Amino acid sequence: MNVTTEFLKQKEIESSRLCSEVLLSHQLKKSRVELYLEFDRPLRSDEISGFRSLIKRRINREPLQYITGHQEFWSLDFLVNPAVLVPRPETEILVEEALRLKQDNLLPDSASGQLTILDLGTGSGAIAVSLAKEFESAALWASDISAEALAVARENAEHHTVSERITFCQGDLWQAFDNSPVTFDMIISNPPYIPADTFDTLPAEVCSYEPRIALDGHEKGMHFIERIITQGGDYLKPGGWLLIEMDPGQTEQALELIDATQSFRSKARLMDYRKKYRMVKAQKNNG
Ligand SMILES: C[S@@+](CC[C@H](N)C(=O)[O-])C[C@H]1O[C@@H](n2cnc3c(N)ncnc32)[C@H](O)[C@@H]1O
Repeated sequence: MNVTTEFLKQKEIESSRLCSEVLLSHQLKKSRVELYLEFDRPLRSDEISGFRSLIKRRINREPLQYITGHQEFWSLDFLVNPAVLVPRPETEILVEEALRLKQDNLLPDSASGQLTILDLGTGSGAIAVSLAKEFESAALWASDISAEALAVARENAEHHTVSERITFCQGDLWQAFDNSPVTFDMIISNPPYIPADTFDTLPAEVCSYEPRIALDGHEKGMHFIERIITQGGDYLKPGGWLLIEMDPGQTEQALELIDATQSFRSKARLMDYRKKYRMVKAQKNNG
């Protein structure tokens, strides 16, 4: 393990110790604690060659989560594959804020009936599934343009036994709801927001392995954010909330776009765990 850790470190792989432990436990199908309990057991040759090929994949910058097929989000285990973005810890602030709005009684009065929540651009389903676990009687919708991503989201919903409360829809943003008259108490989205011209400067783990469709927000990264804000009001109940994750540098412009719609009565920016503005929220007018 020490040799592997040192090797990964030389190859500039972050958190090399943790990485070697995770890869070995994945290879042996054991927890990391179990690895320590059997630390003096010699590895069989098939285990050594399997472990080596996992290390090679990581050195080629494949994200650890695609190698193991798992990522934790909101303390839940999510299956991931290259069709979906690996859910990021900062996205948890969207879930946190949704819970706060409910706790502070800031959702529309109609939410005393069944709460309706949309996760727009659901990817692995991390947001929709986490919210389904937290809001036990809510009805959720999870949409994405990618059929492959929706298949992963469905699998995660089934794994966490919430699939009967989530409606999965495929389409280009709002087009997924063209034939559905539903309006929502909350619309939550972590859309693609990386400016197209900076995409190739991202770490190799991101730009060579994660789906470009999940990240590329076209010019200045604002394409999807703008479409979500300008049309979002049409899909919200009076008093309903729009919560969007974005880059800190995009939040000012997003607030201006919100004002320009005249559809929202309040708006704010919220910070992530690194104290950067990461999310914009807005409440739809009552009338
Ligand atoms: C940044 S990822 C977010 C995934 C997931 N919600 C999360 O937070 O981990 C953006 C998602 O939007 C989807 N997407 C991209 N373009 C879209 C479009 N035009 N309409 C709907 N979804 C789209 C991508 O397939 C991807 O799953």
